[in-house]
Amino acid sequence: MLYLDVIQSLENQLTDPNVTRSFMQAVEIRQRLFRQNRANACILDPYDMFSDHVMIRRRADHRIVSYLRVTSMSECRKHELPYPLENLEKESAGLAEPLAEFLNCGKEPLHMGYMCLEPTLRKELDGIKLIELYAYLGFRCSGFPLDSVAISATLNVKYHMDQWMRDAGTWLDGAADFKHPTIPEVHRVMLIPKLRENYWPDQHAKFDAFYTSLKWDGEDSRKVA
Ligand SMILES: CC(C)(COP(=O)(O)OP(=O)(O)OC[C@H]1O[C@@H](n2cnc3c(N)ncnc32)[C@H](O)[C@@H]1OP(=O)(O)O)[C@@H](O)C(=O)NCCC(=O)NCCS
Repeated sequence: MLYLDVIQSLENQLTDPNVTRSFMQAVEIRQRLFRQNRANACILDPYDMFSDHVMIRRRADHRIVSYLRVTSMSECRKHELPYPLENLEKESAGLAEPLAEFLNCGKEPLHMGYMCLEPTLRKELDGIKLIELYAYLGFRCSGFPLDSVAISATLNVKYHMDQWMRDAGTWLDGAADFKHPTIPEVHRVMLIPKLRENYWPDQHAKFDAFYTSLKWDGEDSRKVA
């Protein structure tokens, strides 16, 4: 049995030991799993203060099974920080133009980052493709109406995740694959300003029962482990 643990506005909860402990557990799993790809990677940055940290945990022992960070453009602007992809304009040739179109598309841009899955608990999510599940959970937890969001990510090409997101909507072309400065492996830019009309209804049909099973005492998520 699993449950959802979501930390929102960490910056306002830093004196709550339950929240900071939960966050540090997220930092630990990110750090450990991304270090498989770069031995000295440091996976911690200012976006952690205001992004959503979306974790699926195991009820029996509260271990984190999987993790995703979701960062909204409005929070970036509020904190006077670039939208995460704006930091990569120099890295990916051709990114500037589609990114400008994406950021001005009239929807709320949400960036997915640092997705990871605890390999020793993989069986807990048997039969589920993580990126599809998180594109649903992450954005559902964000609180924005789903028809008002645009979504982006930089996908490590070696995991072949883009094929699972091609169907979500029309990707903006132009950004070249690039070596990511944090994890120096080839990444692909995903920019989807408009989800295809039936995308969310289709994902609801696929994941709504699972989402409901993740509720803790009827709550949308348990905020602390
Ligand atoms: C990224 C991650 C969540 C993917 O989990 P997943 O969806 O269960 O992925 P799978 O294990 O099913 O692998 C997906 C594909 O990547 C390939 N793959 C997985 N690990 C790989 C590795 N270390 N090297 C090369 N290819 C690898 C698999 O062969 C599989 O290929 P296929 O789709 O053609 O069958 C998980 O691997 C992870 O936590 N990685 C560490 C953190 C990370 O790098 N996150 C990526 C952010 S973009």
